[in-house]
Amino acid sequence: MEISKASEAVGAVVDNVDVRGLSDDQFAEVRNAFLAHGALFFRDQNLTPEEHIAFARRWGAIDVNRFFKGRKGYPEIAEVLKEPDQQLNIGGGWHTDHSYDAAPAMGSILYALEIPPTGGDTLFAGMAAAYEALDDAMKERIKDLKARHGNAHIFGEESAYRKGFEGRYTNPDQAGQTAVHPIVLTHPDSGVKGLYVNPGFTLEIVDMEPQESSALLQELYAHITQDRFHHRHIWREGDLAMWDNRATWHYALNDYQGHRRYLNRITIEGVPLG
Ligand code: SIN
Repeated sequence: MEISKASEAVGAVVDNVDVRGLSDDQFAEVRNAFLAHGALFFRDQNLTPEEHIAFARRWGAIDVNRFFKGRKGYPEIAEVLKEPDQQLNIGGGWHTDHSYDAAPAMGSILYALEIPPTGGDTLFAGMAAAYEALDDAMKERIKDLKARHGNAHIFGEESAYRKGFEGRYTNPDQAGQTAVHPIVLTHPDSGVKGLYVNPGFTLEIVDMEPQESSALLQELYAHITQDRFHHRHIWREGDLAMWDNRATWHYALNDYQGHRRYLNRITIEGVPLG
């Protein structure tokens, strides 16, 4: 097994390994790389749904996403699907999964079953690198701030966004909860500081006037969306990507109209952040 950086800011590629057969020592090495790089990319895997679930369970309990359509017979597996005649793709904007939960999912494990001939790449951004690169004045300004995250605008009954997804999102009645988390998160496992706000689910900065809150969030987003904090994963069928939701953002590009893209995602439970 060889592990090498995918980019300076985020991600590592794990070569020459079959995730079904990882020894405990190899698993410990992979886990250290996950904490160090925020995302891992394994090529040429060959997983049944049961094997995908078994690998996920080595990381922790599975967090069944209440808004994604589950794979038939496997409620633990969320389908990330776009058919050739559909326009919108799941995850087509910068976000991190589940930040609207009080204990946001630790990580997501995405397995590629059908990839379009070109396009459909996923961008990742590294939140520790983005935080480190802030100037001291900004670090001081945000150090004790908290932000509220929510999901009704994406998954709720009234969401115009959800309605464009032709049944690929479910349970709109279960949307609406919000959660407050620090903007500068000390990672619960690595102790490394990183930014924890995202354009998909962050609603506002707590105890701040709406205009100021929005301006500060936009300033942070403009900083994080610089290419120097990113890695672009170009998918092949059989790829398994996993990312730490407390240390990264991701963005699934929607540039493959007329083609099918189908992946299976499992999310792993996390802990309250604070
Ligand atoms: C997601 O946001 O979980 C989907 C990522 C992808 O399809 O590449």
